[in-house]
Amino acid sequence: MESIVSFKSLWATTLLAAALGLSACSPAVDPDVKARQDSMKSWSDATGIMEDMIDNPNTFDVELFQDQAAFLAEDAASPWSHFKSQEAMGNTTEAVWVNAGAFEAEADQFEQAAHELNAAAQTATVVEEVAPAFNDVKASCKSCHTDFKVRRD
Ligand code: HEC
Repeated sequence: MESIVSFKSLWATTLLAAALGLSACSPAVDPDVKARQDSMKSWSDATGIMEDMIDNPNTFDVELFQDQAAFLAEDAASPWSHFKSQEAMGNTTEAVWVNAGAFEAEADQFEQAAHELNAAAQTATVVEEVAPAFNDVKASCKSCHTDFKVRRD
């Protein structure tokens, strides 16, 4: 019996090693780059859900919208501490590092927009009550990306 158990755990270890081996083949991603990119990806998911409802007002689900807006407001400050060192460049432009004040201003503006959207969402009953604040959030994403994120397309 015991030998079966240890065989199983050996097998599990082998699988784990294989998985680790696979990830070691892709270029090592700095933990700060990963943390801030993961955060931004989750913002993209949240704004995508909200945008769909704004584009199709008959699908407006106030609770779902509120959840996304609350998430965005809660997470709005989390990426910034992960922009520590230019060595962890990711897809940032040079401007993040040489023009840190302007980058911080964009970050502050975004946080404010995300909190305003959340405030509007928590009392909204129709999509018209959240659309302007949502558009401000989207404009803020875009405004920061224009100068501070490398364009891939
Ligand atoms: C203050 C600046 C700033 C704001 C505001 C901002 N971003 Fe970003 N975003 C960046 C930077 C810089 C990067 C590149 C990060 C990296 O590669 O390390 C990025 C990367 C991304 C990425 C790519 C992530 C990946 O996996 O490579 C997505 C998606 C994204 N942002 C979505 C958003 C959305 C959606 C918003 C608004 C809700 C937003 N961002 C607001 C600066 C910002």
